[in-house]
Amino acid sequence: MNIVEVSTPGKLMLFGEHAVVYGKPCLVTAVDQRMRVTIERVRGAGIILEAPEVGVSGQALKLGGNDLEKVPRGAKFVAAAINNWAAKYPLATGLLITTKSEFLSEFGFGSSSAVTVGLIKGLSELWGKDMGKKELFDLAYQSVLDVQGVGSGFDLAAAIWGGTVYFKTGGTIIEPVAIKGLPLVVGYTGVKADTATLVQAVADQKAQFPDLVENIFEGIEQVVLKAKICLENGDLETTGKLMNINQGYLESLGVGTVVLAKLIYAAREAHTWGAKLSGAGGGDCMIALGADSEKIEEALDAVGGRIIKVKTGAEGVRVENKEL
Ligand code: PMV
Repeated sequence: MNIVEVSTPGKLMLFGEHAVVYGKPCLVTAVDQRMRVTIERVRGAGIILEAPEVGVSGQALKLGGNDLEKVPRGAKFVAAAINNWAAKYPLATGLLITTKSEFLSEFGFGSSSAVTVGLIKGLSELWGKDMGKKELFDLAYQSVLDVQGVGSGFDLAAAIWGGTVYFKTGGTIIEPVAIKGLPLVVGYTGVKADTATLVQAVADQKAQFPDLVENIFEGIEQVVLKAKICLENGDLETTGKLMNINQGYLESLGVGTVVLAKLIYAAREAHTWGAKLSGAGGGDCMIALGADSEKIEEALDAVGGRIIKVKTGAEGVRVENKEL
């Protein structure tokens, strides 16, 4: 039997979203809710994808050269990753690929990137190719760009390296940050955000007010650099203050929403050190940092937030099972 099972962590952006698309650094942490990708060699020449959580069942894919326009939404990242893999290493057998997630794709935990990394890692194990982390990143990043055209790739870095990572767009810098425990409370707004739309909204804002927006990006960069030092020193109180400043910048970029603000202010009133949105904005999740997590959770719950229990700094991609 030829079967490989790989798991990859989800992620939470801590600091620096949006500015990272324009060459500034960000800080991202991997979370302990994982995506599992299983690849099995089967009879036949094609590929079948089962991804029940995104409504994909029995989806036939080619061993390369898949037309991404024609592939259903839930299968696009797998199709793109197969195209890029096959362009490098020929695929010549039937495969059954199954994905299974411990978290909802709506949370914005980076399920597409987690699947992309898991798939490429799985193929490299199945084909006995010794892939370094950066090579894995580059193939996965190309696949993400093939599907969505934009993106820094920060979530791929979290999926591959795990832990907490200081990151620059396209993986020009990927540096693990050694942090002591981070008692984050995560609140889900119940609203699914579309990252590409929000990235475009910031691009429009930048086109209209280039100087103003560049200043905001530079401000965010300062926040990220200070936050990195605070995290390394375990100074969570100052880290929280920096989260509030980062949130202010994100509001000026126009990616905040009433629901996010409701959760963020509820958390702040529950004596947090700080709170901000995490990711593209427009919905998804917010994060809060404080000494009394229970109190923050109660406050979020009271305004309709859904608490998602996670541990930060989770392990990166790993092989769970391999029978060759
Ligand atoms: O929506 P998310 O969680 O994938 O975060 C997007 C973060 C951005 O900086 C807006 C885009 C990116 O690719 O870095």
